[in-house]
Amino acid sequence: MKEYPKIEELLEYSNDKQAFKSLSSRFSQCNGERFSIMKFRIEKSALERANTRPANPLVDRTLEPGEYVKLYDENLERTIMSNSPMEFYTNYEFIKKCRGDVLIGGLGLGLVVLLAEKKPEVKSITVAEKHLEIIRLVASQIIFNSKVLIEHSDIFNFAPQRRYDTIYFDIWDDVCAANYDEMKRLRGKYAGYLNDGGWMGCWSEDECIKAGSGF
Ligand SMILES: C[S@@+](CC[C@H](N)C(=O)[O-])C[C@H]1O[C@@H](n2cnc3c(N)ncnc32)[C@H](O)[C@@H]1O
Repeated sequence: MKEYPKIEELLEYSNDKQAFKSLSSRFSQCNGERFSIMKFRIEKSALERANTRPANPLVDRTLEPGEYVKLYDENLERTIMSNSPMEFYTNYEFIKKCRGDVLIGGLGLGLVVLLAEKKPEVKSITVAEKHLEIIRLVASQIIFNSKVLIEHSDIFNFAPQRRYDTIYFDIWDDVCAANYDEMKRLRGKYAGYLNDGGWMGCWSEDECIKAGSGF
């Protein structure tokens, strides 16, 4: 028999989705040498064209136009993070599952950190971010709560001093088969740092596996 999500789950999802969208108001535009934080508008028609993800009862496909925020990389000439609905959908498993002591690879705009730090079941959050300029741009605007520690470090070289209950890697800004090789490397490196019963995940891992299988 088909299982429907519980009403509490739908309410939590909807609250988190709204919280994610409203994060734009926490940022102002600013430029570094390589990275910039920018505001932009999305029209409903553009979002509908872009959203090709399969229907899911937990995904509210009523996409809202409005003001959003993005992190832009001048070297790569592309956006590497935003608070668009796609980013909410693809990070939602982490937002829902994170608890205890959390390690995250990749700060970006700190959006998932802002949602995770509010959860009472999250005790601490360590973020390893490769680019000092991103840490400076974000930390100049956002004051994370006392649970959060941001380390300037490449997640492939980061040396954990402890074990974690949740480990999440979100260092990629596209979906491709090569990312899955990096995900396997990171899963291998950090397997010994995950507490029993803990959860480890990578952003858009299933999509990268599919990209490699030719489907
Ligand atoms: C897609 S963004 C992360 C978005 C973030 N989850 C958020 O909620 O805003 C990817 C981030 O990973 C960082 N990054 C890329 N490679 C990295 C690495 N090897 N180690 C640590 N951070 C890395 C990028 O500089 C960028 O800040």
